[in-house]
Amino acid sequence: MRDIDRIRREITQFQLSDAVQLEAFRLQFLSKKSELQGLLGAIKSVAPEERKNFGQQVNELKQLALQVFEEHKVCIEDAALDVQGGGIDLTRPAESLTLGSMHPISIVMNEVIDIFERIGFSTVSGPDIDDDWHVFSALNFAEEHPARDMQDTFFVDVHPDVVLRTHTSSLQVRTMETQKPPIRVVCPGRVFRNEAITSRAHCIFHQVEGLYIAENVSFAEMKQTLLYFSQQMFGAETKIRLRPSFFPFTEPSAEMDISCNICGGKGCSLCKHTGWVEILGCGMVDPNVLENCGIDNQRYTGYAFGLGIERMAMLKYKTSDIRLYFENDVRFLQQFTAATQ
Ligand code: PHE
Repeated sequence: MRDIDRIRREITQFQLSDAVQLEAFRLQFLSKKSELQGLLGAIKSVAPEERKNFGQQVNELKQLALQVFEEHKVCIEDAALDVQGGGIDLTRPAESLTLGSMHPISIVMNEVIDIFERIGFSTVSGPDIDDDWHVFSALNFAEEHPARDMQDTFFVDVHPDVVLRTHTSSLQVRTMETQKPPIRVVCPGRVFRNEAITSRAHCIFHQVEGLYIAENVSFAEMKQTLLYFSQQMFGAETKIRLRPSFFPFTEPSAEMDISCNICGGKGCSLCKHTGWVEILGCGMVDPNVLENCGIDNQRYTGYAFGLGIERMAMLKYKTSDIRLYFENDVRFLQQFTAATQ
C-alpha cells in the first residue's frame, strides 16, 4: 500500500511537457515491465481479506496513469502542430465566407461601360460639383433655359456659378476641351436634380453618357451603335425606335425606345401598353457645342447619348420603385450576391 501512495505521487508530480518526457512516463507507468504492472500482477497473491481493497487501489492507479498520459499526449501533439503550422491547423475544413454584394446600380453601370468599352470607347470621370460653363453654357443652354432654374438645379449657395451637375454631359465638355478628335468616350457618374422623390423619380441618380467625335460621323452610325448596345444589354431580339426630340446640345435630337423586355412588345403596365420603353436621349452634337469646346466644326461631326442607370436597372431587374435603389435595405441588396461573383 505504501508503494501505491508513492507511485500516485510520482504520477501526479511527473514533469510532462514534451514528447520525450511523455515516452519516459509511458515506460515508467504503463509498460509491461513497469512497477505498476507488477502490482497488478501481484493482486492475486494478496491475502483474500485485503485483495479487494488492494485490487481497487491498484486499478485506480492504472486509470490515473492512463488519464494523465492521454491528456498530456493531446496537449503535446497540439503544441507540435502549432510549431509546424504557426498555430493553424491546416487539416481543418475551411469555413465558408459570407460575401457581400455589389450594389445593383454598380452592377448595371459596369455592364453598360463594358459594352461600350468592347467597341472602343474609353471611360472618363470628373467632378460631381461643376461650374455653369461645363454643365450648361458650353452645352448651348440659352440664358433663360428652364433647366437652369432653381426648380431643376441644385446650386451651391456660396457660389451662384457652382452647381451639382444635372447630367454627366459636363464630362463631355471637359473631354472635348482637353482631347483632340477622334474622341470616343463614355462618362459614368452620379447626377442631381431638384425633383420630388417618387416611385419613378429621385433627386439623385446615375447616368452613363457617350460621345463620339471624328470626321464624317453620321446619324446612321449612332443608330447602329445604340442598337448594338441595346441588344447586348437586353437580348438579341431587342428592337429600337427613335423619336424626334430636343436637347440644346444636339441637333437633330432623338429619344430612343426599346421594345419592352417584360411583355416582349405585346403591351404591359411597365410600357403603359405601348410595347416600347424609353431608355435614352441622343443626337448629333450641335456645331455650337463643338465650337465652344475648341473643336473645328467644319471638319468634325459627332454624336452623343445619355442614359439613366436606375431606369436600366428597373427594366433589367423588373422593379417598379426607384427608391429601392437608394434605401439600401439589405434584404433587397442581398439578392444581387450572385450577380457580383
Ligand atoms: N444630357 C441628357 C440628359 O441628361 C441626355 C443626352 C445626352 C441627350 C447626350 C442627348 C445627348 O437628359
